[in-house]
Amino acid sequence: MNSWPYPRWIAHRGAGKLAPENTLAAFRLGAEHGWRMFECDVKLSADGVPFLMHDAALERTTNGVGTGGDQPWDQLARLDAGSWHSRRYAGEPLPTFENVARWCLANGFFLNVEIKPTPGVEARTGQVVADHAARIWQGRAVPPLLSSFRPEALQAAMQAQPQLPRGLLLDTLWDGWWDIARQLQCVAIVCNHALWDRATVAQVHGGGMRCLSYTVNDEWAAQRLVDLGTDGIITDRVDLFSPA
Ligand code: G3P
Ligand code: MG
Repeated sequence: MNSWPYPRWIAHRGAGKLAPENTLAAFRLGAEHGWRMFECDVKLSADGVPFLMHDAALERTTNGVGTGGDQPWDQLARLDAGSWHSRRYAGEPLPTFENVARWCLANGFFLNVEIKPTPGVEARTGQVVADHAARIWQGRAVPPLLSSFRPEALQAAMQAQPQLPRGLLLDTLWDGWWDIARQLQCVAIVCNHALWDRATVAQVHGGGMRCLSYTVNDEWAAQRLVDLGTDGIITDRVDLFSPA
């Protein structure tokens, strides 16, 4: 199996639901709870700046309107991405990918970058995110793990920066997932946790890949994944699990 430099425990979107997802405030809170690896969602502004946000639409997690990927970064940078969560975080900005990357590197933390393209710009997002990651992590021992539900995004990332590790995200075991993961030379399969069973873990490990799960918020589910011999757990519950 491939060597695996990452911790088992990964904080989803920074600190799950305890702070506004995908903001630096969330990452800081996750770190205060002892977490050393973080997952985030990255997409492109209209002018090609990679930034953190989960949804294509701005409404749920910012005071903006419309599709985030349709707006230039100087407009997105003025939005409030914290008030939707609570008053404590009012005014918290959307971070660029580079903001969060620099924070991780300065603190010796690991990052799982989920490439979350605005529909229609999958390949471009994969390429730009990979290029930024390669530049920012140049000369560092442990690169970020790039993952995506979109094979086109991972394909473009592979073409741009083949040395960066890739993980295929799966919400179902759709026809052809295995061949696609092999073609993309993935180092990991990142599954909806309920999909893992002994046979699938054996298949993935047998193919030299690691088995990761999202989004695991119950102790019984985490224990099942540990017992199955899987390698990584992404959770919102930075307050429940001990990442050590
Ligand atoms: O990357 C794991 C997980 O974040 C995938 O689902 O929708 O929470 O981004 P989602
Ligand atoms: Mg995600």
